[in-house]
Amino acid sequence: MTEPFVTELEDALRAVVGATHVLVDGDLRAPYETDWTRRFTGRARCVVRPGDTGEVAAVVRACAAAGAPIVVQGGNTGLVGAGVPAGGEVLVSLARLDRVEPVDAVEAQVTVDAGVTLERLQGHARAAGLDFGVDLAARSAATVGGMVATNAGGIRVLRYGSMRAQVAGLEAVLADGTVLARLGGLAKDNTGYDLTQLLAGSEGTLAVVTRVRLRLVPLLPARAVALVAVAGTDGALDLLAAARELPALSAAEVFYPDGLDLVRSYARLPAPFGEPAGAYVVLECAARTDPTDGVLEILAGCDAVVDATVASDRAGLDRLWSYREAHTEAIGAAGVPTKLDVCVPLGELSAFVAELPGAVAAVAPAARAIVFGHLNEGNLHVNVLDAGERAEEVTDAVLRLVAAHRGSISSEHGVGRAKAPWLPLSRTPQEIEAMRRIKAALDPAGLLNPGVLLPA
Ligand code: MLT
Ligand code: ZN
Repeated sequence: MTEPFVTELEDALRAVVGATHVLVDGDLRAPYETDWTRRFTGRARCVVRPGDTGEVAAVVRACAAAGAPIVVQGGNTGLVGAGVPAGGEVLVSLARLDRVEPVDAVEAQVTVDAGVTLERLQGHARAAGLDFGVDLAARSAATVGGMVATNAGGIRVLRYGSMRAQVAGLEAVLADGTVLARLGGLAKDNTGYDLTQLLAGSEGTLAVVTRVRLRLVPLLPARAVALVAVAGTDGALDLLAAARELPALSAAEVFYPDGLDLVRSYARLPAPFGEPAGAYVVLECAARTDPTDGVLEILAGCDAVVDATVASDRAGLDRLWSYREAHTEAIGAAGVPTKLDVCVPLGELSAFVAELPGAVAAVAPAARAIVFGHLNEGNLHVNVLDAGERAEEVTDAVLRLVAAHRGSISSEHGVGRAKAPWLPLSRTPQEIEAMRRIKAALDPAGLLNPGVLLPA
């Protein structure tokens, strides 16, 4: 590619979004070029920050005319390297797409721009007496567009499902700049291919999501959280089985002593119990009236409970949740983790957790795997620290162990660049070929997020 050609595209982009929103200087590009974990980094040709859907479409058209590949970025909280450049792409940041429409209380829906953060969406819904069903620790930075693109999950999937279940419609820009809009939010609409659900979870490979019509849920003001010590994974599963009797159950999370130690020293938290335990479960119930009695009843009747502490006031809820929610930051402070987000059938969970350290040690003896996650879905976040140069081997070993236990190599973070080579462990050749045909039909030149999701 020659210099005059580069200048031509940049000039075209400046004409669309204004000169201040085309970043070419290394210092200005840098915050966009490395992911949150610091594991994935690449140089962008430039960063473009369109301000609305029309500008996104014009940016995509200009890139298509120049044959320039694009990587799309929301809040840059992704964990599989799908939102940062591999090298040389135009990085399209959607941060300036930040409008929220008034809540439609009759439909219990709202339309928001892709760059709106989860925290802002939650505040907007709550101000209207409703709530948003997906919640996750990165709420202050994660954006709606990225959450749709990755089909994000989080801590309330048990009750409300993943991001796909919240999406009633969306607007997106195709690889040739065409705008698809389906924001009506009808509860029943049986008129052919469900393009909205196709684009949700497509990781920016089929289109750029610019606006989303989202379902909202009732606002439940009364919460109770229990932090429970159990002997190990089997005990955690016994407790989960008992807790499922609670209609108000909204979260069931698991973590282990090594993760607790990291969190305690990072967040300066006291030991939650007098004695260490084999595993810890966070249960949360949410309802219109205080659900504490139901939680206490379940804990009293469950033999798996070794110790427990329960809170229903705001400070107590935050304190107990912090033992779980500080895991990501505490692990990030300890090093650059190889982050693997996997799903294992509940019947295989104990065996998987028991076999994991051996599988990691076999390829990286100095590494340690910190495990935590969303117990109800069998969604474990395997964070391997100190893998050094052996990150690929560790990834291979862990994902093969997942496949041996009939699991999925990605539960809620997506495939991205990090796991694309291992997609055949979770999808058949026929499925991958069908995905390739869809990709080729919507993005024939392969300009949207190249290298993401589909193996080379
Ligand atoms: C979480 O559940 O906290 C997130 O998926 C983030 C992570 O895995 O680090
Ligand atoms: Zn998670």
